[in-house]
Amino acid sequence: MSDIETLEQDIVSAVASAGDEASLEAVRVGALGKKGSISALLATLGKMSPEERRTEGPKINGLKDRVTAAIAARREALKDAALNARLNSETVDVTLPVREAPTETGRVHPISQVIDELTAIFAEMGFAVAEGPDIETDDYNFTRLNFPVGHPAREMHDTFFFNPKPDGSRLLLRTHTSPVQVRTMLAKAPPIRVICPGRTYRCDSDQTHTPMFHQVEGLVIDKQSHLGHLKWILEEFCKAFFEVDNVKMRFRPSFFPFTEPSMEVDIQCRRDKGEIRFGEGEDWLEILGCGMVHPNVLKNCGIDPDEYQGFAWGMGIDRIAMLKYGMNDLRAFFEADVRWLSHYGFRPLDLPTLAGGLSA
Ligand code: DAH
Repeated sequence: MSDIETLEQDIVSAVASAGDEASLEAVRVGALGKKGSISALLATLGKMSPEERRTEGPKINGLKDRVTAAIAARREALKDAALNARLNSETVDVTLPVREAPTETGRVHPISQVIDELTAIFAEMGFAVAEGPDIETDDYNFTRLNFPVGHPAREMHDTFFFNPKPDGSRLLLRTHTSPVQVRTMLAKAPPIRVICPGRTYRCDSDQTHTPMFHQVEGLVIDKQSHLGHLKWILEEFCKAFFEVDNVKMRFRPSFFPFTEPSMEVDIQCRRDKGEIRFGEGEDWLEILGCGMVHPNVLKNCGIDPDEYQGFAWGMGIDRIAMLKYGMNDLRAFFEADVRWLSHYGFRPLDLPTLAGGLSA
């Protein structure tokens, strides 16, 4: 075997046994690099006679071409092998359960959802949202709302009082959202058109009462708003909220110290096997109290009753949420049981809008 053939065999077997790209590169440098064995052979051509060169030249160049091709082929093979090894080690088990994103597993509490829904409805009618503190003064919760000191109506509210201060005054947990009416009238000149959703507290607990619950108050004060407007607003609200075309409502005379006249409102429904349907049936269900704001309340809040008038209403949010979504025990709302929440809760990105559907 000629020297060239031996050299070719050596290089080709070194190429074949190179296990990775680095050792293949070492073989390449050893053969084709500046000081490589093939480069050294090529350098001998210059010193040969023309005849010798004619026979040796093609042999040496042929050797160079074959070795270059062998190295290129091996490099491709090594790259493929490396890729295959990576693909094998990075396999994904498609049968594994997928962990859901927090936006999928988290749930919005039905009360928050209902507050968003009713805010969307009243905002569409031009109402702003007003808020007040949960801890109130006796003055705002009762006195300015025309509950005279010692009046029995105060006893109807099962109030949570704080310990008396040295001057004898007592703070309390607000028993209704009506003190936000007082705060709004004291802070802002008419025309006023607000809703006030929020937490309220009474010392009471059974299937339909919890010590903390939610109300939404509505207040409209201007120069000519009357009960006809109130009736229209409440009807439109009920249709939009319960997502039905018609709701029959019944206004019954009632008493609240802060309104005159005062009414309670029932909506017509059918109770059927534990379910309630609106817009049909023979039953009535009380959902709110309302009336024309008492002149004394306007006076107590710095508004002239000879110039201004208006109406107000107060509605139990938990109650209308139970009715709309078919939940029958109010206490479950506040037990923080994630199983209940994942059943009755709402997906966080399904925001209620009038156009897109309130509870879609
Ligand atoms: N504050 C009343 C309650 O908690 C509800 C209410 C009735 C509010 C009539 C009003 C109203 O604004 O006009 O029982």
